[in-house]
Amino acid sequence: MSPRKLADTARALLANDKGVLAMDESIPTCNKRFASVGIPQTTEARRAYREMILTTPGLAASISGVILCDETIRQQKKDGTPFLNVIADAGMIAGIKVDTGAVDLSAHPGERITKGLDGLRERLNEYARMGARFAKWRAVITIGPGIPTRGCIEANAQDLARYASLCQEAGMVPIVEPEVLMNGDHTMERCQEFTGEVLHAVFHQMFEQGVLLEGMLLKPNMVLPGLTCSKQKSIDEVGHATVQCLLRSVPAAVPGILFLSGGQTATLASARLNAMNQKFSAPLPWEVGFSFARAIQQPALDIWRGDEANTIGAQHALNHRASCNRSARRGEYNASMEKS
Ligand code: 13P
Repeated sequence: MSPRKLADTARALLANDKGVLAMDESIPTCNKRFASVGIPQTTEARRAYREMILTTPGLAASISGVILCDETIRQQKKDGTPFLNVIADAGMIAGIKVDTGAVDLSAHPGERITKGLDGLRERLNEYARMGARFAKWRAVITIGPGIPTRGCIEANAQDLARYASLCQEAGMVPIVEPEVLMNGDHTMERCQEFTGEVLHAVFHQMFEQGVLLEGMLLKPNMVLPGLTCSKQKSIDEVGHATVQCLLRSVPAAVPGILFLSGGQTATLASARLNAMNQKFSAPLPWEVGFSFARAIQQPALDIWRGDEANTIGAQHALNHRASCNRSARRGEYNASMEKS
């Protein structure tokens, strides 16, 4: 691995206030999203949807890189052009999700562990040969009665660090995604406590595994009250709690933090990202950006609905969300942008 090349890729993904578009839903997750809006759950529908996204005119003005899944990285446009060429021609960087999903963690009821380390070195080398320059692995942590346990946090943190180290060996920048889920009725304070604990464990394991911090990107959850918590918080309270948590647990050598959206509405995700960059940015050692899936794609999916006649409207919605989030990186987003 070349430390310089890894750091350059990480910096390129953060450059010019752009963000990363996660369009790497696994086949079952993509099918679930399609079912919710009445789109047939076929290989061709998934391919057409990804073509609609990747051919959005002007997307690269706000998006530096896109995360694909194994199915999509091997697909082409209807005219036969490989998606990887479409991405490169637009000036974006291709990334690949390399975990193979979360399963129940043995002896830990209600907790999950992410799979995908078996054969990972070979898969990473293949993706690198295809042209992918970065990767993603998502671990999920659930807050509930008696959970998360140390056993679950440590197992996921170690696997994230092993993944990150293998990525760097293959010359790819690892996006390290430990997601503390927003499902549940827990308070924002509990989310902050566990997000901090998880991040400490992840960075400790990355230290143990020799991961180069300058050549990785962190993709955490924002610190939020649970979806059904009775004490919801203001945009500024969320921004403050999130920045405080990250300052306490993320080393300054990490070049950037790219939030996941995690089920927040598209506009709230933009507003909260904006608050962090506008009001709490002065002491931040890393760039604070986005790598949203739902908070960029959902409005476009609702318009597209599998019908080619809706392509232009859906692409407009995609561009709108991407550019709102780019504005949020600069602390220049405001609600009036949603009206225009
Ligand atoms: P959401 O933004 O929809 O949470 O997805 C981000 C992601 O990449 C999940 O792995």
